[in-house]
Amino acid sequence: MKLVLASKNKKKLVEMNGILSQLGIEVCSEAEAGVDIDVEETGTTFEENSLLKARAVMEASGLPAIADDSGLCVDALGGAPGVYSARYGGEGLDDTQRYQLLLEHMKGQMPRTAKFVSVITCCFPNGDVITARGECPGTVAFAPMGEGGFGYDPVFFVPPLKKTFAQLTAEEKNAISHRGKALEVFKAKLEEYLK
Ligand code: IMP
Repeated sequence: MKLVLASKNKKKLVEMNGILSQLGIEVCSEAEAGVDIDVEETGTTFEENSLLKARAVMEASGLPAIADDSGLCVDALGGAPGVYSARYGGEGLDDTQRYQLLLEHMKGQMPRTAKFVSVITCCFPNGDVITARGECPGTVAFAPMGEGGFGYDPVFFVPPLKKTFAQLTAEEKNAISHRGKALEVFKAKLEEYLK
């Protein structure tokens, strides 16, 4: 089975294929499916934005489409950046500038607890929808550590492992991450759906 990933994020595509290939599912990019659309993320929840993206790409490609809407929710910041994680500080910032801004906003803040959230939605051309949510608790590090991953990985510290997401291998991150957990739930729901 082939699913189109409603995202231009190549690292998300690799993470998704790493997990869903075990089910014999191939996740391809929008470009491979001949789709080039920009979906406006106008929702205020991960669920709404995930559905908006998956539905738009399913309609544009005519194929089942899967979307992940994810972000980092920091307790001391009232859950920010949350659904606005990709746009935190404005569109012009890169990943490094964005996590530096987060560290700046966290100066003197307690507690430093946070969680990553991922909501996966798969929309099928017949109108069926499968949704799955995953969360990963952690803290905001005091300084960036590690070179792996993307986004806020260098400043997301996982206390039981004493490492940031950026210091984990892809397999280690998938085993505990919000997206890994959401995909496990999704996998189980999809297996049930395909029976
Ligand atoms: P989305 O593509 O609209 O879902 O935006 C998600 C944003 O949340 C990304 O651009 C990253 O900034 C952040 N994010 C989501 N998942 C991760 C992750 O696994 N590691 C680091 N940052 C992430």
